[in-house]
Amino acid sequence: MTIHIGAEPGDIAETVLLPGDPYRAKWAAETFLKDIRLVNETRGMLGFTGTWNGHPVTIQGSGMGMPSLSIYVNELIRDFDAKTLIRIGSCGGMQPHVAIRDVIIAMTATTVNTPSSSLFKELNFAPSADWSLLRAAAVAAESHGTRTHVGGIYSSDVFYDERPDLNEQMVRHGILGVEMEAAELYTLAARYGRRALAILTVSDHLLTKEALPSDQRESSFGDMVEIALEAAFA
Ligand code: HPA
Repeated sequence: MTIHIGAEPGDIAETVLLPGDPYRAKWAAETFLKDIRLVNETRGMLGFTGTWNGHPVTIQGSGMGMPSLSIYVNELIRDFDAKTLIRIGSCGGMQPHVAIRDVIIAMTATTVNTPSSSLFKELNFAPSADWSLLRAAAVAAESHGTRTHVGGIYSSDVFYDERPDLNEQMVRHGILGVEMEAAELYTLAARYGRRALAILTVSDHLLTKEALPSDQRESSFGDMVEIALEAAFA
């Protein structure tokens, strides 16, 4: 049991999927896992452990933004020895060829700042995905026939952004989408020698201003959960 995760050591699987939204964790566990049990409800940040094709899997909400994700991922790694951590979330599309409902597999995550920035001082650390997971996710996405893009994303600290010039530079430099968590996940995985990946569904678009209607979010999200599970155990 840790400050933020009320589970016993054996309750958390080595493979953890991390949606931002705790109710997405519940939905994904009920939809894709067998024999699920609730392993965390501290602060309402629901976590469930079950099995997928016989493999133990935990699906734990991370909350929104890097400080929140950092708390859960630090505890999952340091106290529960999680080995493979895959964020499953949404992002805003940033390129004309990226459409709503497409899946983005994040190779790198650019930031202004992460909770780890003070540690790196003058260094610009480059948070990047685990290659074996990235490759397996790309293969899984292709076999699903999902429209998928692999490349760099932007992990921002703000949803309501007062600096559109930063987004413009990201678009200009080929960044595929914007979200708020992956860079810190990749940085912590690097620090502790764990495997990490972020797989994202495009839920809105910064250039076209389109947004996925809420009734269509679940089906798009499901594809991404299956890709994550197949990649974790490839
Ligand atoms: N900005 C930041 N995070 C997001 C967005 C966005 O437009 N869409 C989904 N997550």
